[in-house]
Amino acid sequence: MMRDVDENKVSSVMISDHAEEEDLLIQVEEAVERGEDALPKFEILEANLKRHIYAEEEILFPRIEDGSWRPVVEELMNQHCAIWDGLREFKSNVGTSEAPKVLNRLYSLLKVHNSIEEGGVYGAVDDSMTTPLDLERVEVPLGWEPLFTINGAGLRSRRY
Ligand SMILES: [Fe+2]
Ligand SMILES: [Fe+2]
Repeated sequence: MMRDVDENKVSSVMISDHAEEEDLLIQVEEAVERGEDALPKFEILEANLKRHIYAEEEILFPRIEDGSWRPVVEELMNQHCAIWDGLREFKSNVGTSEAPKVLNRLYSLLKVHNSIEEGGVYGAVDDSMTTPLDLERVEVPLGWEPLFTINGAGLRSRRY
């Protein structure tokens, strides 16, 4: 599918990544429905989503200068933990009758989550980021997890 991506606009890059993740998730669902091995496709989705979440938490969200976004960002970061858990859950249920339910939940989580980001937070990111984001080059450090998973409330005093 061809999409118009303005590489200089962070929101444009991230919104196009949302669409790519949705496509991948649908492909995983289709593989599961056909009784095929869904794991190879899933692993592409997983890597893509993890990089996306990492970029938001470590690069994008900390740059938002307008403090009124803080509660929304905290909610989004909590949702990242749920998405992360959903990825883990799929992996431990792949090939079972639970797998389609896990994917459905992940799909719903992403729908809500992405619409919150696209509806405002990404605009605040655009306002605060002076350099474009080269998402393809972002690498998630080994063992990295969403920040609320590790630090819980402690993070709020450090950064948010
Ligand atoms: Fe996010
Ligand atoms: Fe996002």
